[in-house]
Amino acid sequence: MIAQRAAEFAFDPALVQLNHASFGAPTRAALGRLADQHRRIEHDTATRLGDGLAQDLAPVRRLVADLLGADDGQVALVANATEASGALATSLPLAPGDHVALLDVEYESVLRAWQERCARSGARLAVLRTPVPATADALVGAFDRLPAGTRYVVVSAVTSSTALRVPVREVVRTVAAQGASVLLDAAHVVGHEPVDVAGTGALAAFGSLHKWLPAPRSSGFLWVARPVLDVVRPAAVALHYDEDLAARFAWRGTWDPAPTLGLPDAVREWRGWEAAGDLRRAAELADEVTQAVTAAGWRPTGEAALRPARLRAFVVPAPLPRLRAAADAAGLRLWTGAAPDGRTLARVATHVWTDESDIARVTALARSLGGQDR
Ligand SMILES: Cc1ncc(COP(=O)(O)O)c(C=O)c1O
Repeated sequence: MIAQRAAEFAFDPALVQLNHASFGAPTRAALGRLADQHRRIEHDTATRLGDGLAQDLAPVRRLVADLLGADDGQVALVANATEASGALATSLPLAPGDHVALLDVEYESVLRAWQERCARSGARLAVLRTPVPATADALVGAFDRLPAGTRYVVVSAVTSSTALRVPVREVVRTVAAQGASVLLDAAHVVGHEPVDVAGTGALAAFGSLHKWLPAPRSSGFLWVARPVLDVVRPAAVALHYDEDLAARFAWRGTWDPAPTLGLPDAVREWRGWEAAGDLRRAAELADEVTQAVTAAGWRPTGEAALRPARLRAFVVPAPLPRLRAAADAAGLRLWTGAAPDGRTLARVATHVWTDESDIARVTALARSLGGQDR
């Protein structure tokens, strides 16, 4: 890793960090600001968690709305993608006989939330097979023939374990032509991919903000289209439950708003990296690692058009325990897991601290697992 850049984060220097996509990576500066924010709150909790809270959150909501290309009246600040997904899965209308459809590679907690809701509502969940390695045509084609009565399709803008950049607008078009609405999981979008969340034609979108912005854990957003503005409610009933969207979600019981209040500084820090070309360089390294491990026998999960800027996933020709043991022994922190069909997956995320030596270590890992040069 670039030692000077890595030192801006609180990492264990013995490890190579290639998995900030799971939990995010706040800078030391952001953690310092978080402590300041906590001191400010503790100085006067009656105000900062009481009457002053809505006022403090309003500019943050406007900033997040700007990042999403959205009207701030349609944006709620939440703790994370899971909370927003749960709110949609518990409050959107669903009737017996309706279907909800999603890809088999959708994030497990999102899938489970809809499984639960369907079971309670007498609706059916259709889990669609994702063709891996995927082409754009095959990925959009997975939505071509939805079950009759499909009301919602939940799809990620960037899928989690398979790191596929889904052609969202095409999916929305395909789904809308069959009378259904898209709920967009945008967990890997803000700070990573320029997706015009509000302009996609989705009925709602949600995501976490701590994954790709250098923001302390945890913060997220929920955006809803006007037709469901008055319908979507937090899964937990709390004070202000019956007020407007922002108020409904601003108080989910006593919570810690400090990470959310740190978002403007995180965005400033991120913009500095962008202006300095650091994020572009990290994207180039993502291309480099893709080339190198492909030559060593790993298989990208999608064709080039489906690869997000700084997140890449591969089918690894080795059993998962062997990959995990080898990655651990090499001090590499990358996400590893199983695809729905049981094949082994590895996912690499690059960031401002990533350098050529990290790419070389991942390549050595790929070679050590017995892949062949092609
Ligand atoms: C696509 C996707 N959706 C939702 C989530 C859940 O995010 P969180 O744990 O921040 O709520 C994740 C987490 O990695 C994800 O990858």
